[in-house]
Amino acid sequence: MNYEFILTHIEADKVGVITLNRPKQLNALSTPLMIELGHALKAFDEDDQIGAIILQGSEKAFAAGADIQAMSQYNFSDVYKANFITRDWETINTIRKPVIAAVSGFALGGGCELAMMCDIIIASENAKFGQPEIKLGIIPGAGGTQRLPRAVGKARTMDMVLTGSMMNAHEALQQGLVSRVVAQDQLFAEALGAALTISSFSKLSVMAAKESVNKAFEGTLSEGMHFERRLFHSLFSTEDQKEGMDAFLNKRAPTFKNQ
Ligand code: CAA
Repeated sequence: MNYEFILTHIEADKVGVITLNRPKQLNALSTPLMIELGHALKAFDEDDQIGAIILQGSEKAFAAGADIQAMSQYNFSDVYKANFITRDWETINTIRKPVIAAVSGFALGGGCELAMMCDIIIASENAKFGQPEIKLGIIPGAGGTQRLPRAVGKARTMDMVLTGSMMNAHEALQQGLVSRVVAQDQLFAEALGAALTISSFSKLSVMAAKESVNKAFEGTLSEGMHFERRLFHSLFSTEDQKEGMDAFLNKRAPTFKNQ
């Protein structure tokens, strides 16, 4: 498929890279862009050679939020009937391979929410996270009031959501919103390194690990523990578990077959 608002390529035959590409609008997340993003994510998810996906924006903006130009025309019946946000935004939550957000510059509103829908966020030193919807007379609509408190707690979330203030990269690291902060010119290399590491493991255990960590954010601790234990048990039926443990004991590199 030819895309108008995103770019895609594959690194080292293993890592799918999606670049949001509306630079003049600071990668504002319009519906056509989100449809393309969903399509590209699904294509990489279904591609057997791909082990992980990187999602990035430009140096100035990962994404400055949902498209305010478009939203300014909508009324309640438009957004409710179209199920705005839900239909085109949630594809990413169905992707089973790890998605790494490489965030440089602004990740605001829907941009911050999109980064939080990814599995790992790696930020450059100029990254800024925020949920400024309050300034537009709305509130976050793609999970900001739910995912942000799970990452940084209630007090910091309330401050950001109610005042529209931003969090810089170092605070985001300190607060646990992102897992690594690197110099801007190292961002892609860092994300690619993480993606290649993930791609070197069994796709089965990688998918199970992602599924199990995500379970921690749904339901109770005991349900999550039970789910994790059963997935853990089930991986003992794979060839990759035998291979991984045999390789360790014989001090050699494993060759995973994703079986
Ligand atoms: N939607 C549409 N266009 C946007 C945009 C957005 N979210 N963010 C920036 N742009 C456009 C600007 O309108 C501007 O276009 P023109 O050149 O045609 O005027 C261009 O991108 C560059 O932006 P600025 O001139 O404003 O750049 P700046 O460097 O001075 O400021 C900024 C950067 C602080 C990110 C500022 O652009 C800004 O505040 N953007 C809006 C951020 C925001 O409110 N996001 C939340 C949107 S609502 C949402 O996301 C709902 C949800 O939960 C899903």
